[in-house]
Amino acid sequence: MGKLNWGIIGGGEGSQIGPAHRLAAGLDRAFDFVAGALDHRAEEGRAFGRRMGLAADRAYGDWREMLESERGRADRVDLVTVATPNATHFEITKAFLEGGFHVLVEKPMTMTVAEGEELVGLARETGRICAVNYGYSGYALVRQMRAMVAAGDLGRVRMVVAEFAHGHHADAGDADNPRVRWRYDPAQAGVSAQFADCGIHALHMASFVIGQEVERLSADTVSCIESRVLEDDAQVNLRFDGGAVGRLWTSSIALGRQHGLTLQVFGEKGGLRWAQEQPNQLYWMPLGGRLEVIERGGPGLSPEATRASRVTVGHAEGMPLAFGNIYADLAEAIRARAEGRAIDPAADLYPRAEDGLRSMAAVFAVAESGKAEGAWVEARPPMMR
Ligand code: NAI
Repeated sequence: MGKLNWGIIGGGEGSQIGPAHRLAAGLDRAFDFVAGALDHRAEEGRAFGRRMGLAADRAYGDWREMLESERGRADRVDLVTVATPNATHFEITKAFLEGGFHVLVEKPMTMTVAEGEELVGLARETGRICAVNYGYSGYALVRQMRAMVAAGDLGRVRMVVAEFAHGHHADAGDADNPRVRWRYDPAQAGVSAQFADCGIHALHMASFVIGQEVERLSADTVSCIESRVLEDDAQVNLRFDGGAVGRLWTSSIALGRQHGLTLQVFGEKGGLRWAQEQPNQLYWMPLGGRLEVIERGGPGLSPEATRASRVTVGHAEGMPLAFGNIYADLAEAIRARAEGRAIDPAADLYPRAEDGLRSMAAVFAVAESGKAEGAWVEARPPMMR
């Protein structure tokens, strides 16, 4: 199988996440960027697509036009990324899955649990890949943590502590800024703001690394900026199905913190600590031993971490390369299907629609528990109870 064709919906000029997708999909030259409906404004989308090198007939003004045209082409896109605002994810993803395309959709996958269940069902029925961009699970050392937990290096996991706390919405004077206001408006954002935007990344990473799913949770949600209806800070206590206890803090008012995604895992035989802003170092403390620094690209890493690593040890790899590993996994998954062979197990790590659905159930559970002053609530989607 030759090069794979890739298209994207959203991610237009000036968007936050579009550039990372374009870099990531092109990494390793796995995908060729051949089609897109890049902007909610048709003409701007077409013009930007042309500047990005798309052929005139594949720089679309609208995603429906893209779906119609691509489904009839022999060289149709092999993977479509949906990087539009949250409320549009479900409709676009559903239409492309039904059209027979593999899809990578941005998080949160949907706005409701019912929509999430529908996409899981549809991916199963159509046999198409529906992946969700928990792109930070693509970091080599996050995969190393997962491999170390799975190999039993930590023994039983007692505790996982995840944070995604930044300070980018800390200015109360910004409350009416249109770029900020919609995020805390239930009509546009749904039942949760900060947990749905960032908390689900931390929760996905915790589950991915420890190999356990959350069953129950208790949440303290607050709006530190009082004019906000939805939360800008949440502390969530978690119980996982394998017995681990979880603590998760997410915030958008934590001034001085930048991206602020960190993970710590404490087991019977050792502890791990990793921070996304220094992603090339992982701290490992074996019980009774000395604190060690595990360097990305160094010797003795797991096959998953080695596969996810590109430049030699000592040179920094960062976020677009982590996203690139999700694309590399998807390229391998698409090729394996086309060639009728098993996928390389070190690549079979991309987040699935099931993960997107679990996140939506957690979002609604956090909102419910937050309203009930931290009552413990069911955190699994109905179809997974
Ligand atoms: P943004 O507002 O910066 O950009 C959205 C882009 O989508 C714009 O170019 C806009 O013109 C385009 N668009 C909107 N509606 C469209 C439609 N119907 N058809 C085609 N294009 C359309 O938004 P941002 O921050 O880039 O977020 C997009 C999505 O990515 C969100 O769901 C967000 O949650 C997610 N995201 C994920 C991150 C991650 O780490 N996985 C990080 C940042 C955002």
